[in-house]
Amino acid sequence: MNKMRINSERLLDNLNKLKTFTDTPGEGVTRFSYSAKDAEARAYIIDRAEKAGASIHIDALQNIRMGLKTNRPGHKTLVAGSHIDTVRNGGWLDGIYGVCSALEVLETLSENDFSGEYNFEAVVFAEEEGSNFGSTMTGSKFIAGIYNEENLDKLTRDDGLSLRQVLCSLTDSRVYSIPGPGGINAEDIESLPWDFSQIKAMVELHIEQGPILDKSGERLGIIDSIFGMRVIEVVMEGVGNHAGATPMSQRQDALSAAAEAILKAEEIVRSDEDRRTVVTVGKMEIAPNCSNVIPEKVCFSLEVRDKDEAKINRFMDRIIAAIRDIAKARKVSCSCREHSHSLPLHLDDRLAQGMKNAAEKSGIPFRYMDSGAVHDACMIAYKVPTGMIFVPSINGRSHVPEEDTKPEDLVAGAEFLFEIVCRELG
Ligand code: GLV
Ligand code: MN
Ligand code: MN
Repeated sequence: MNKMRINSERLLDNLNKLKTFTDTPGEGVTRFSYSAKDAEARAYIIDRAEKAGASIHIDALQNIRMGLKTNRPGHKTLVAGSHIDTVRNGGWLDGIYGVCSALEVLETLSENDFSGEYNFEAVVFAEEEGSNFGSTMTGSKFIAGIYNEENLDKLTRDDGLSLRQVLCSLTDSRVYSIPGPGGINAEDIESLPWDFSQIKAMVELHIEQGPILDKSGERLGIIDSIFGMRVIEVVMEGVGNHAGATPMSQRQDALSAAAEAILKAEEIVRSDEDRRTVVTVGKMEIAPNCSNVIPEKVCFSLEVRDKDEAKINRFMDRIIAAIRDIAKARKVSCSCREHSHSLPLHLDDRLAQGMKNAAEKSGIPFRYMDSGAVHDACMIAYKVPTGMIFVPSINGRSHVPEEDTKPEDLVAGAEFLFEIVCRELG
């Protein structure tokens, strides 16, 4: 029987404090990786971990590993963590809840001078949301060796800066690993992928971000599979012209073509028999974006998600063919460029079984479920046994300022994470 207990007040205090590190006060949390608010959040977390005696390691991508003070060399490590970056005007719990809970586990183990068969690390993964570079799970993709040096230059922000340039522009050496005068060198890059022979497993605690647990009344979700996704970038180019003087019969309107293409993509995906596949256009730029000019050029993202890779590809291929047909019929040019993707993943059955046993023992209502959202756990799951736990999201809202979870559910989830970590540490 585990006598140690997490400090639920401290957990909620930390979450409430971190909520204030936002670029959009009063309008949700906006904390992009590598921003000043990201640095403030990092300083807060690192300070807490250092006070708990943890070792801190920050890699060139700015992923942070915080090792329990009693960790011993040569022992494999159990990892828990998530991300602290957000979408624009996002919620206060996505990612940060998993980080604060992992930190709480670290602090509790530390104050109890815990030492088990395995080591423990709390991890902050950088740039999970893809808010800067449009690619989700960037930090963990480097950790898993899925991204390499090429991606430092290929990934670019809307302002044109590459990931490498952004990393080289960081200055706060307390919270970032600052590259030397020659920039990010071969050694920095070589040390990005973890030595997974030294990692025992990973567990990520997260809010559900959907309506299932809130509706069912169950308090925990044990994750079976995580959806994969494929993201493309579509550019449609027509002819800009005067909005009043150009007859409808003579228009080559890029935005009308895009609108038709988006509705067609929805129609295609809605034909899905099990209604599981989802398609989203979440980002669009219109040029010149003037009310009295026929839009000349439109760029938009389009992503398809499902837990069956073949289905993702089938739907995406049909959508791309439909976009091309629509462009042709409307006499606009179009290009569909692959942007990024991640594969659907089944998480570790042994960890899920252990979670089931623990939930049954403590009488917490739970269910097995899939995750439509992607998580850093996906990347780590390629390499080592990985598990995920969800707590309910009120009204199923997430990636919006309304994102919320009852405090008792936040505490119950963190207590459950602690229980699982202790079981795994031996
Ligand atoms: C991350 O939140 C994602 O699923 O896009
Ligand atoms: Mn998240
Ligand atoms: Mn998210």
